[in-house]
Amino acid sequence: MDAKVVVVGSLNMDLVARAQRLPRGGETLPGERFFTVPGGKGANQAVAVARLGASVAMIGNVGDDAYGPQLRQALEVEGVDCQGVGECAGVSSGVALIVVDAASQNAIVVVPGSNGLLSPEAVQRYDALLQGADVLICQLEVPADTVAWALARGRELGKTVILNPAPATGPLPQSWYAHIDYLIPNESEAQALTGLPVSDQASAQLAAERLRELGAGQVIVTLGAQGALYVGEQGAGHFPVAAVTALDTTAAGDTFVGGFAASLARGMALPEAIVFGQQAAAISVTRAGAQPSIPYLAELAP
Ligand code: RIB
Repeated sequence: MDAKVVVVGSLNMDLVARAQRLPRGGETLPGERFFTVPGGKGANQAVAVARLGASVAMIGNVGDDAYGPQLRQALEVEGVDCQGVGECAGVSSGVALIVVDAASQNAIVVVPGSNGLLSPEAVQRYDALLQGADVLICQLEVPADTVAWALARGRELGKTVILNPAPATGPLPQSWYAHIDYLIPNESEAQALTGLPVSDQASAQLAAERLRELGAGQVIVTLGAQGALYVGEQGAGHFPVAAVTALDTTAAGDTFVGGFAASLARGMALPEAIVFGQQAAAISVTRAGAQPSIPYLAELAP
């Protein structure tokens, strides 16, 4: 059976330390807890899709180190189709060094490793996966030319194309916008893409409108505890979220994107898909780590 959703993106092993606060430059701080968990924005989003009710295939790379098989297996146990996950000889898997503070904020350094070797040709090799899917999701932890190729191919095949522009360091190439149905940045990514300050609903709406002017089909700016701001074919709207006690916000955005995509693939209407993604993300922030924090469909309110 064809997977409904294809994710083109990164797989990382997350090395997580919890500390009272994030370290400043040159400072050494005592940590309180350390653990390693599978992560990576692409893999997290694939896991979220699988746990939240849609079939999914992953296209990405791992290295030939000890982490590679663990990252692949973490996807396989969730039922993610991993035929498109290659192994690169002589290269480390992607690794993310993450510090989470007592206020649940995090700081992340990502070393791309094998993610940096995901080529357009590798994605092209699994074109049958794209052809059989309804929804394509990309992020920015793999090379830009590979993202560009996948977005263009997704558009050419008439798929619903989602770009989560994370991490974002500046504007996207203008040619990408015409290929994107749903652009889903958080506030700092919306700011990086537009150059406009984004901190609340009003500023998020201005940034989203700017991204629409640039050519994005529909824009959803995720604002953490302030909810999400939608601008698109259905006008503009704010989606609030219920307050939760956050433990660790790592992969909250990935859970939103995966939940949203799974909902679209299952035929839900847009507003319901946004609310579903938010409910899933709200659960994820109450748990530690990336993939372990992502809820299953049965945990969400019907
Ligand atoms: O979005 C969270 C993810 O960002 C982590 O799992 C880490 O691997 C980094 O890629």
